[in-house]
Amino acid sequence: MNYFPTYLAMGLSFCNRKEELKRVIKDIEDGAPILLISPRRYGKTSLAVRALEKTKLPYAHVDLYKAFSEEDVARFILTGVGFLLGQLETTPKKLLGLAGDFFSRLNIQVGYHGTSVALSFKDKNPQNLTEILLATLEKLNELALEKNKKVILFLDEFQMVGEVSIEHAIEAVLREVAQKSQGLVFIFSGSNRHLMEQMFNDKKRPFYKMCDQISLERIAEQEYLPQIQKAAVEKWGQELESGLISKILMLTERHPYYVNKLCSMLWQNEISPTEKSIETTWIGLILENKSITERELSLLPLSQRKLLLFIAEQGKMENAFTRESMEGMNLSQGGVQNALKNLLKSDYVYKDKKGHYYILDPLLKSTLSMELALGG
Ligand SMILES: Nc1ncnc2c1ncn2[C@@H]1O[C@H](COP(=O)(O)OP(=O)(O)OP(=O)(O)O)[C@@H](O)[C@H]1O
Ligand SMILES: [Mg+2]
Repeated sequence: MNYFPTYLAMGLSFCNRKEELKRVIKDIEDGAPILLISPRRYGKTSLAVRALEKTKLPYAHVDLYKAFSEEDVARFILTGVGFLLGQLETTPKKLLGLAGDFFSRLNIQVGYHGTSVALSFKDKNPQNLTEILLATLEKLNELALEKNKKVILFLDEFQMVGEVSIEHAIEAVLREVAQKSQGLVFIFSGSNRHLMEQMFNDKKRPFYKMCDQISLERIAEQEYLPQIQKAAVEKWGQELESGLISKILMLTERHPYYVNKLCSMLWQNEISPTEKSIETTWIGLILENKSITERELSLLPLSQRKLLLFIAEQGKMENAFTRESMEGMNLSQGGVQNALKNLLKSDYVYKDKKGHYYILDPLLKSTLSMELALGG
């Protein structure tokens, strides 16, 4: 059993998120579209998949990461629809006996592979993409209602749609379907928070105020504790001293990806971790990633790098606009303002409820702190 995957958290590796799970499941039951939002690698996809597995309803996880055009988006969604059709009936031929003509009229080719259904465009470059998409999704909704079942389309890495869609045409189609479909429920998620917020929180865009927006935070220490202890007992036959777990959670700042990354390294050892081994493993991780981190930083404008270093030096930043801080960075007020805006936008920096600024990625923070300590 891998308690600390660096990919999706499933089975026993999935920790907590009880409230969020309840809310996703309730929304699905109510037929309300859902938007999952968080910085990168906090667990949006893991949460959606967990909730979907729990409902035991037919769902398709459509990853739009590689959708580089409107046609790609439509093709990926069509594949998801085909998959759902196959789930609606154990003999999809029967189901498509009803709908085959319909798809044919839309110039959609229907293929069968065992119990699954494959939908694809007959034309190489279909002209009326959005109309086809609209009609297909409406048909799926209709068939789900006929079967008295809910089906879910989980559209992941959804920011791609905003990037490739001309005049938000696909967004408009999805809005139309999502708002009136009781049989088909949508979950949207994406790893680029800024682009997702642009799509969903801008009054001028079709998705404005359409979804129940669920924000994911980091997982609390008291939730991680029993989880990590269970993994320790399984591996070394006894619990860890709670101070050691606090150390792991302090270094990783409870960032779900880094908790798993650090723990997966520690759990490879035959001997259970000590204060020292936790530290050296974390430093090892910093050094391993150092050249990538440095390259990434070198691509940032100088003012942003200066501000990042300044925040790393302070641990947290309460006010960037004091005379000392601006002099220290050798930046004007406008320069700091601009750098801060961009760092927030790209999730390098986040602002807590108190209005304090932190570096979001704990590994980046540690890398910068280490460089500062070395005088570099
Ligand atoms: N509930 C959880 N319990 C424990 N670990 C989790 C949980 N959710 C996510 N993780 C871990 O966090 C990391 C990121 O998970 P996931 O890919 O689901 O996040 P994401 O927000 O979809 O990421 P991205 O922004 O890159 O799409 C993985 O290492 C995963 O195992
Ligand atoms: Mg994801």
